[in-house]
Amino acid sequence: ATYKIGYFVGSLSSRSINRVLSKALISVAPEELEFTEILLKDLPLYSPDYDADYPPAARALKEAIAASDGILFISPEYNRSIPGALKNAIDWGSRPWGTNSFARKPTGIIGTSPGSIGTAVMQASMRSVLSFLDAPQLNSPEAYIKFNPAAYNEDGTVQDEGTASVLRHYMEEYGAFVQRVLAANAPGHI
Ligand code: FNR
Repeated sequence: ATYKIGYFVGSLSSRSINRVLSKALISVAPEELEFTEILLKDLPLYSPDYDADYPPAARALKEAIAASDGILFISPEYNRSIPGALKNAIDWGSRPWGTNSFARKPTGIIGTSPGSIGTAVMQASMRSVLSFLDAPQLNSPEAYIKFNPAAYNEDGTVQDEGTASVLRHYMEEYGAFVQRVLAANAPGHI
């Protein structure tokens, strides 16, 4: 079987190190996982005024989440929290009221920063938001990645075997978690 993973890169930077990480994660992920990026950049700032008639970019976001078996967030930490562009996308997906797209979706949260904090505080903020949105989260392993440019190749693969091993283990556990949540969500379970 194959599993569709929709992923968010929480950075709009053209030189994003989190985009580098996203490519590296995909390059080492189990073959059964198929990845589609869900874009933040075309979304206006969310307002309840849009609830009666979502714009095309926001409809596309909700449809992409609905079509995904699992969601993966690969994001920087901004000022010890979630970057505004990513939080805006999550707010769009959570609404209109009663149509929260994240409910029961298996999620993973990972990110990289130049410093040793490795996005730990962003990840803690994300867990709070995703818990409120009733999204199951991979709890272990956690991955706080201090960005080492030499560990990655231009073509999106991983140069450093230690880094590859950490990222591969994360994606294997994430894939297994997605399958467990899907099984638990299937009709027939209480
Ligand atoms: C940062 N940066 C940062 N780093 C960190 O580890 N903790 C933090 O709280 C912040 N805060 C922060 C705020 C803002 C507005 C910016 C622009 C940057 C540094 C950040 O980790 C670095 O710029 C990364 O390169 C961002 O990831 P991308 O955009 O390259 O993927």
